[in-house]
Amino acid sequence: MDYKVIYEGKSKLVCEGPDDKSYVMVFKDTATAGNGAKKEELNGKGVLNRRISGLIYDYLMKNGIETHLLETIDDNTVLVKKAEILQVEVIVRNVAAGSFSKKYGVEEGAALHNRVVEFCYKSDELGDPMMNDSQITAVGLATQEELDTLRREALRIDDLLIAYFEKLGIRLIDFKLEFGRADGKILLCDEISPDSCRLWDSKTNAKMDKDRFRREMGQVLEGYADVLSRMEAEKN
Ligand code: TMP
Repeated sequence: MDYKVIYEGKSKLVCEGPDDKSYVMVFKDTATAGNGAKKEELNGKGVLNRRISGLIYDYLMKNGIETHLLETIDDNTVLVKKAEILQVEVIVRNVAAGSFSKKYGVEEGAALHNRVVEFCYKSDELGDPMMNDSQITAVGLATQEELDTLRREALRIDDLLIAYFEKLGIRLIDFKLEFGRADGKILLCDEISPDSCRLWDSKTNAKMDKDRFRREMGQVLEGYADVLSRMEAEKN
């Protein structure tokens, strides 16, 4: 079906919804890394991410997390509540990896004494720089009360997802969340998928996520499909 596109993101389209309280969100097959420097079409990625994200959202919503998801329209398309997306991305780290390892010289896979929550300014132009609370409130991206909510919700989601993936033989290394404002509340928005999480096999530590694409390891969608098949097997 054709929808009127309002905004085209790197991996999603946001389109006009059937009424003024909703958007249609389409998961694209495009994979990007390095802030768009590396870009490829991976046939079927949109459907895999929509399915994985859908099962994760179902689980989180059953456990009391408020999200923008209203319903699934088709295999790569969902209807979501219109929300004003906060320009602050939230990253939660359970294990050292990625930019944390690089920036602070900590070996990938090293245990951390505590979980890390990072806020980043959602700006492709500036390369999503990390920001602290006082910087965020100083430029008015969010209030301190909102940041406290983001931190609390992100850690609740982390608790839930660690337990969920553990049952599937998967370690949740880190992930990125986005939130939005709607009806005076903060809602979880966007997707949770192997594009936005690091997921390692519990036994072998094999990567099952977008690092396969970022690091040119090959077999990208096979990793995503493995995640989905474990989720579906657990559900049945
Ligand atoms: P990082 O180690 O590159 O900072 O990424 C941490 C986690 O956040 C990792 O699971 C990938 C995810 N992420 C996104 O989904 N989008 C982004 O723009 C960034 C920077 C990270």
